[in-house]
Amino acid sequence: MKYEHNIRLIKETFQERYEEDQNIFLKNLFSKFKRFLGITIMKANLQEKNSNSALNFHFIEEKFIKSPLKKLMQTQFEMRIFKLLLHTQGLNLSGLRILEVGCGAGYGFESIMKEFHPKEYQGFDINPQMVALTKAKTRNYRGQIMVFLGDIRKVKLPSSRFDVVFAFTIFHHIIEWEKALKEVNRLLKPKGFFLVNEINNRSINRFQRYLKVYHPFQARFTWEMFQKGLKDSGFRLVQDFYFLEDLGFFLCIKI
Ligand SMILES: C[S@@+](CC[C@H](N)C(=O)[O-])C[C@H]1O[C@@H](n2cnc3c(N)ncnc32)[C@H](O)[C@@H]1O
Repeated sequence: MKYEHNIRLIKETFQERYEEDQNIFLKNLFSKFKRFLGITIMKANLQEKNSNSALNFHFIEEKFIKSPLKKLMQTQFEMRIFKLLLHTQGLNLSGLRILEVGCGAGYGFESIMKEFHPKEYQGFDINPQMVALTKAKTRNYRGQIMVFLGDIRKVKLPSSRFDVVFAFTIFHHIIEWEKALKEVNRLLKPKGFFLVNEINNRSINRFQRYLKVYHPFQARFTWEMFQKGLKDSGFRLVQDFYFLEDLGFFLCIKI
């Protein structure tokens, strides 16, 4: 009897200790998690301030742009919507001179080559790392291909040079995005095509709120503002498509 009593006592003591330990353990875990979150956010802010602020490129976004997920999104979603817009208008861009602005990690390059077999591809980006990544992908292809470091606000290329310009989500990084749209217009031949997709102020605000991914305030536009920018830069909007109201696709012609 005494023995059983002792056992129960030991069990209870351990149970209490166990519960106490568990509480302490959970408290510690929670405070570690809070610290981790705090540090991550602080790091994100610091990184933004220190490293790529000149490029307006947050490191979380940079990681995403280089990821296989972005490749999947580019080929299975973004390019498919552009192809659908072109198909609806009965347009075929095969064998033309194509420029890609803000080429990123080169997934745009790969899908442009696959879908349109251009006569010439030129692509540039303001970020040297992105230029290197796209250049590395060009080794698997033949033809007139050039990838270089460049700024869309002032491109070192002659006017009326290209039949088509592609821009996959770059203008929300550019404070002078209206100036950049005019530069795209300058580079296109008359009646040349401009295919651009973008995210609007609503989704940029969400990225900031939930993921702490920042973009310049001056580059947060509504669809009305972006469409006006296109018109003021000398484009006619042929067709547009909006995914969840946040991601817009635009097929334009240089007037
Ligand atoms: C959101 S990423 C998109 C990259 C790529 N187009 C894609 O869809 O994966 C924006 C890209 O625009 C580039 N960029 C930002 N400002 C630029 C500028 N002024 N001129 C050229 N490229 C720029 C960035 O370096 C980055 O690669």
